[in-house]
Amino acid sequence: MIVLLVTCLVALLSPSVHSAGSSADYTHWPKIAPTFCNGSKQSPINIVTSSVQGNSKLTSFTFTGFDDNSTFISITNSGDSVVVSLDDEKVAVKGGDLPGLYNAKQFHLHWGNGSSSPGSEHTVDGKQYPMELHIVSVHSKYNGSVSAALAANDSTGLAVLGFFIEATSEQNKTKSWDILTSFLTSIPNSGSTTTDIMDQITLDSLLEGVDRTKYYRYQGSLTTPDCNEVVIWTVFKDPIKVSQNLIKRFSTTTNFKAASTSVLMTNNFRGVQPLNGRVVTSQVPQPAGRAHQRLHPPQPYPALPGWKPVELYSICWIR
Ligand SMILES: *[C@@H]1O[C@H](CO)[C@@H](O)[C@H](O)[C@H]1NC(C)=O
Ligand SMILES: *[C@@H]1O[C@H](CO)[C@@H](O)[C@H](O)[C@H]1NC(C)=O
Ligand SMILES: *[C@@H]1O[C@H](CO)[C@@H](O)[C@H](O)[C@H]1NC(C)=O
Ligand SMILES: *[C@@H]1O[C@H](CO)[C@@H](O)[C@H](O)[C@H]1NC(C)=O
Ligand SMILES: *[C@@H]1O[C@H](CO)[C@@H](O)[C@H](O)[C@H]1NC(C)=O
Ligand SMILES: *[C@@H]1O[C@H](CO)[C@@H](O)[C@H](O)[C@H]1NC(C)=O
Repeated sequence: MIVLLVTCLVALLSPSVHSAGSSADYTHWPKIAPTFCNGSKQSPINIVTSSVQGNSKLTSFTFTGFDDNSTFISITNSGDSVVVSLDDEKVAVKGGDLPGLYNAKQFHLHWGNGSSSPGSEHTVDGKQYPMELHIVSVHSKYNGSVSAALAANDSTGLAVLGFFIEATSEQNKTKSWDILTSFLTSIPNSGSTTTDIMDQITLDSLLEGVDRTKYYRYQGSLTTPDCNEVVIWTVFKDPIKVSQNLIKRFSTTTNFKAASTSVLMTNNFRGVQPLNGRVVTSQVPQPAGRAHQRLHPPQPYPALPGWKPVELYSICWIR
């Protein structure tokens, strides 16, 4: 009953781009917001690496403002996630086969319960990571208005960049994540916000260690009601490494939007949705090189019956 109530409140009060409720909630969304949550191109998904297809158009991105430390406007407890608002006049992404320039509005996170109980939304071959970070951007033709993109029901209206977060036992792995998570004590409850976060962190510093030329691409939706199918998803293969103690701060500091008592925000991810025939693509393999050679068994081994070039390809470039 409480779970359902929270879900209804979330659905009514925050039909926005961040996460909602606890892990048990999302099964009700198709009833609450059937227009899209019961659609056929929903997110997140489980990425099956052996089914990923090569796409030579998935070139590198151009990231603007990711090295600028004056782009973080505020950090807010939205009741279902922690959302950092970005200065969308300074931060943008293009390239990578996106159809134009996308202005970055915010990033938010999804997590489980500490680093041992995972909470990423996307999974890879069934593996769920401890956390996932989503940078939400809107096509420049909408002049920074996410609601305009949603109203247009434009399948290319939003571009979300998804980054997995993996736990490392190294203490205080990155200074930036220490600074970011230190703000959480200022926003324990739903609706609380602080603007005192400028000039300290850049997006680049939070994404340290990720090769941003290697990613998966598919067409999907927001992962919260109304689950609008307006998102070009980019999910990067390399995880960001963040120390366990910093990951734990998320599930031990902030509270869900709740009627009366404080309930720690945990498991604020949606479970994976059916692919329904959608294809996940990724970078094509390099035509030559060592990996290529290894795929051809040296003579006199006979070629294995049933091995097709396509299968060899996928072995070559996945990972
Ligand atoms: C969701 O869609 C399926 C078929 O696409 C339909 O059978 C089901 O009744 C729908 N559920 C809701 C809650 O609308
Ligand atoms: C999260 O983990 C803590 C400590 O292990 C535990 O006490 C708590 O019940 C867990 N919460 C949920 C929602 O699983
Ligand atoms: C965006 O701004 C341009 C120029 O000011 C205007 O022509 C256009 O209608 C605006 N689009 C939206 C969706 O607000
Ligand atoms: C949204 O657009 C899709 C096609 O991209 C269409 O199938 C669907 O009916 C539209 N939904 C609404 C509510 O307009
Ligand atoms: C990690 O960061 C915390 C908080 O800033 C600090 O108290 C602690 O000494 C740091 N630990 C290490 C090993 O640097
Ligand atoms: C933020 O960027 C400005 C300009 O590049 C620089 O002077 C300043 O030292 C930076 N602040 C921090 C905390 O790195």
